[in-house]
Amino acid sequence: MFFVSMPVKTLPDEHLPEFVRIVGDAYPAMDLNTPVEREKAVERFRAQNRDERNHMFGCYRDDRLVGGVRLHDFQLHLRGALMACGGGGMLAVDLPYKKQHVAKEIMQFFFGRYRQQEASMAALWPFRPDFYRKMGVGYGGKISEYHIAPSSFPLIDPPQPVKRLTIDDCEAVVDCFNEYAMMVNGMILETVPGRRIRMEQTQSLRMVGFEQDGKLRGYIQYAFRKDKTGNFLVNDLIVQEFVYLTRESLLALCSFLRVQADQVNRVVIRTHEDDLHHLLFDPRNASGHLIPPVYHEIHTTGIGIMYRVLDVNRLWAQLSEAKFNDESLTVTFQVHDTFMPENDGPITVVFDHGKPSLDSQIAADVTVGLDVCDLASLIVGSADLSSLVRYGRVTIDNSECIRPLTRLFLTDHQPLCLTPF
Ligand SMILES: CC(C)(COP(=O)(O)OP(=O)(O)OC[C@H]1O[C@@H](n2cnc3c(N)ncnc32)[C@H](O)[C@@H]1OP(=O)(O)O)[C@@H](O)C(=O)NCCC(=O)NCCS
Repeated sequence: MFFVSMPVKTLPDEHLPEFVRIVGDAYPAMDLNTPVEREKAVERFRAQNRDERNHMFGCYRDDRLVGGVRLHDFQLHLRGALMACGGGGMLAVDLPYKKQHVAKEIMQFFFGRYRQQEASMAALWPFRPDFYRKMGVGYGGKISEYHIAPSSFPLIDPPQPVKRLTIDDCEAVVDCFNEYAMMVNGMILETVPGRRIRMEQTQSLRMVGFEQDGKLRGYIQYAFRKDKTGNFLVNDLIVQEFVYLTRESLLALCSFLRVQADQVNRVVIRTHEDDLHHLLFDPRNASGHLIPPVYHEIHTTGIGIMYRVLDVNRLWAQLSEAKFNDESLTVTFQVHDTFMPENDGPITVVFDHGKPSLDSQIAADVTVGLDVCDLASLIVGSADLSSLVRYGRVTIDNSECIRPLTRLFLTDHQPLCLTPF
């Protein structure tokens, strides 16, 4: 089929109402049905775009807006290194123009823009993982959702006081968040203006925090959800964000959740940590689901955030301070990339005690053949290399290297992203 090329350019403010109309059709759940609802959404977008990391773009055909996207200039923490990362969100295509490569043009613009700006990674939240995987975007970390009886949280004795946080605590929250972000692989850093806008736009913002030596060392942002039965006395507490820097802050915040037991039915908590069930007295959720022979369901699992390698060459320079464990090995990656052919081909990386550098003169110990989406998953630490080899996703020409190669990419946890965009 023949498709006309469509320019993607900065969305002028006067086109924002039309973009919001397109978004309203593309995301019916946003309930942008009446002029009043759409006008409120335009104002919300305008407020969010005061964050100078946000940029709106429209895709035009014959001067008509047919789709758009919002891009974000982020800083991403990977394996101890901090790097520029393009975030893409709110991708929407006008319904009559679907399946005419509007989304493809926008995605090519998105990736190309950040590559040009010397970012070697991009991130997005997918409406469908398979749509973006075809475009070379790899799965990020898994998240587990627990529904826990509050009485299962540990209670510390004597109780440690937590304090209520408000928008006035924005700077302390961002400091705490960013310190956590530098401890946890995969996190995107926050800025005070960005967080302040989000706090302003959160209806009934509820947060508690724990301080040590006068500094915020952990906090929970939470909301309540009514029970489906309509009984107004039965509520679940939904933990929207749980950030902690120390064991003391974790336990103090757990105690806060524990003492809600007389009024809260279940605490819903989402985590990348594999071991959370060891913290809880009874980690079972309320499903009653028994997995044969006798495994009790404790959580449900999802994939979400996805990552794209934009520049396989520059990536390794930007990862020069990253930790790939202590492995010493020279690897040729034979990368397959159909969406950004500039990445397609071989690249040789020398890992010296886990520190990567490029050197095409050194003979490789092993050649690894892989799709660029799987390279992203390995880089962010969401995939185990030996599993990818077993599944036929990755090929290696020297099986003796499989153990050091697997150890090279190993991380303590699944990578985590707490940034909505
Ligand atoms: C989902 C949505 C964005 C798709 O938009 P669209 O313009 O219809 O999609 P496109 O026509 O560009 O389809 C993607 C194309 O990229 C192509 N493509 C994907 N990977 C490719 C690759 N590696 N090389 C070449 N082409 C590739 C696909 O094959 C497809 O083309 P085809 O239909 O000719 O096969 C749009 O329907 C929408 O707005 N949905 C609602 C809102 C939403 O969910 N947005 C996403 C939020 S994350």
